[in-house]
Amino acid sequence: MLYIVTGANRGLGLEFTRQLLARGHRVFATARNLEQAEELRTLASSAPDALQLFTLDIADPTSIAAFAKTCADHTIDVLINNAGILERGGTLGALDYEAIERGFQVNTMGTLRLTEALLPALRRSQGAKIVNLSSKMGSIAENTSGGSYAYRASKAALNMVTRSLALDLAAEGIIAFVVHPGWVLTDMGGPNALIDAQTSISNLLHVIDRAGPETSGTFQEWQGNTIAW
Ligand SMILES: NC(=O)c1ccc[n+]([C@@H]2O[C@H](COP(=O)([O-])OP(=O)(O)OC[C@H]3O[C@@H](n4cnc5c(N)ncnc54)[C@H](OP(=O)(O)O)[C@@H]3O)[C@@H](O)[C@H]2O)c1
Repeated sequence: MLYIVTGANRGLGLEFTRQLLARGHRVFATARNLEQAEELRTLASSAPDALQLFTLDIADPTSIAAFAKTCADHTIDVLINNAGILERGGTLGALDYEAIERGFQVNTMGTLRLTEALLPALRRSQGAKIVNLSSKMGSIAENTSGGSYAYRASKAALNMVTRSLALDLAAEGIIAFVVHPGWVLTDMGGPNALIDAQTSISNLLHVIDRAGPETSGTFQEWQGNTIAW
């Protein structure tokens, strides 16, 4: 099985890559800056046949097109759209619209643009899976504290585009769904987070393994429960 993992140089992306390799899968792992991706490069040198590294900035259409071209002759079984940014976007009365725009550019449009570009390679798989890393903060139903306009809106929009992908691709046997990894100890999750990356990813990989047509177009959390939109 060939997995693509974006934002694989640190945090959850690096842990996805580690655990997928340990399970014997092939991984195309991407990062914005491979020169600075030391842990990822060390991992690649220990598994040169299974892990290949690529430069990819999902906010840059040219970078996406170049990566998609590289993937053109491959069969992608699982696309893990992990790359994302936490832009809160200021507070009401002093909102930062550039930050809000950056959130959409990376979390929503970047993820959608990459997915669209990789469709030919996904279509070659029997039952490809598109897994988009969202957040409970993108759930409208779960929003009881307000704020975080940029992050919440960009992930809610990601939820919506994933639902459309699920519907548009259903006839081709490709599934698409969003996952919440938990509140995880990474640069983004910060030091007060509740679980470590290893726990989050081992659980998420079970969720991804089990996912079938009934999972497509849904919002799953790391422990396997469905989250309300
Ligand atoms: N940690 C949590 O508690 C938590 C909770 C809910 C959801 N999530 C979601 O889970 C995913 C991974 O989170 P994390 O905690 O691992 O975050 P992280 O530690 O901040 O890592 C983010 C990753 O995304 C990459 N990235 C950012 N912008 C990019 C771009 N334009 N193109 C390509 N890669 C880009 C980063 O690369 P650089 O090193 O180049 O910046 C980095 O590899 C995100 O989508 C996040 O929203 C995390």
